[in-house]
Amino acid sequence: MNIIEIIEDKKVGKELSREQLEFWIEGLMNGEIADYQTSALLMAIVLKGMTDQEAVWLTNAMANSGDKLDLSAYGDLSADKHSSGGVGDSTTFIVLPTVVACGLVGAKMSGRGLGHTGGTLDKLEAIEGLSVSMSPEEFYNQVNKIGIAVAGQTGQICPADKKLYALRDVTATVDSVALIASSIMSKKLAGGAKNIVLDVKCGRGAFMKNQEDAVKLAKLMVAIGKASGRNISALVTDMNVPLSNYVGNSLEVYGALKVLKNESRGNLYEVSMALAERLLESAGIDNAKERAEEAVSSGRACRIFESMIAEQGGDIEYLKNPEKLLNTRYVSEILAESDGFVNDIDAMKIAEVVRDMGGGRIKIEDTVDPWVGVEMTVNVGDKVAKGDTVAKIYYNHIGHENLKEKVQSAVAIGSQKPKQNKLILEIIK
Ligand code: URA
Repeated sequence: MNIIEIIEDKKVGKELSREQLEFWIEGLMNGEIADYQTSALLMAIVLKGMTDQEAVWLTNAMANSGDKLDLSAYGDLSADKHSSGGVGDSTTFIVLPTVVACGLVGAKMSGRGLGHTGGTLDKLEAIEGLSVSMSPEEFYNQVNKIGIAVAGQTGQICPADKKLYALRDVTATVDSVALIASSIMSKKLAGGAKNIVLDVKCGRGAFMKNQEDAVKLAKLMVAIGKASGRNISALVTDMNVPLSNYVGNSLEVYGALKVLKNESRGNLYEVSMALAERLLESAGIDNAKERAEEAVSSGRACRIFESMIAEQGGDIEYLKNPEKLLNTRYVSEILAESDGFVNDIDAMKIAEVVRDMGGGRIKIEDTVDPWVGVEMTVNVGDKVAKGDTVAKIYYNHIGHENLKEKVQSAVAIGSQKPKQNKLILEIIK
């Protein structure tokens, strides 16, 4: 077997065999296959596509390229979730404690924010003292002790994905459903959980801009997970409007705490409960919806979140006193320019404002300001009068107040009350 034949086969649209895909990933890792050959193969895959079977084989080859977490001690109870990346999306902080409160074990390796989307690790690090780096032993010990851990990658998980992603990024080969699905799912399979729920975001604040592509991606990821014996399902959810009223790292922890403390409901709660319900159902737990809701309303999910923060060294004062998470030098209000109804809030514009204030990264090595963000004080459908506050920006540098104009343009006010858009567009089991 040689790589030139493999590239040739894909160039003419043939289905690659399991052996060919394993040969490629092995050669990529041991240096026998040059990066320019991998780049050519990636481009052929983008142009000719992959069958579901090829995507399954590729995912497994990538998952097997490094360490894997072993959660087999928890039988059918281990749980993980993944979001394809959105704006104001802090569902992890609600979903995992909720399912843990209902008897599952929450073990999740998360990532950092890139581009306009936030990352769970950056959000958690807004809590002073909190550590997201753990050795595999520390990760297992914490899961054993309190049933939940959310950390950065422990050990060498999916090194093949790291290499492939770096090449895709510079060869215009990111946007292939098969490559995105195998990249995400290789990390989920290596993460070891039996029950997995995926939240595939769709709309202007997401990577997948239209529902058709989002559903295609969700179906392929579910097929890959099932082929590896996981209990997996996916929600395709709207990401045209920010999921929560709080966008920015520390603000998103604040928004999640408001839900966990029963001080707020809204879309963040709705999607979190739907994701938790899917995980509980996959693990065979009855009355999943009622149990998930009870875990939040009783405060048990909140206590589990607190125990995780404390165990990972975070200052618990931030949870007792969440206002500490709203901690910038300056806060400035954005006012409605006319009477009417809020017709729209553009998630992408809000995310770009947060990124431009230092809350996000352009390159993975950039540092973030965890404190900056945007709070929407209204929701789509709300009636407002001219001069009412519709949003606030939290910032640390003089000059960033100019971004108020962009927030203003993100909040569209019209004379008619708008129709409510569906939040959960599809469920794929
Ligand atoms: N997220 C990933 O982990 N991989 C991709 O290819 C795209 C998004």
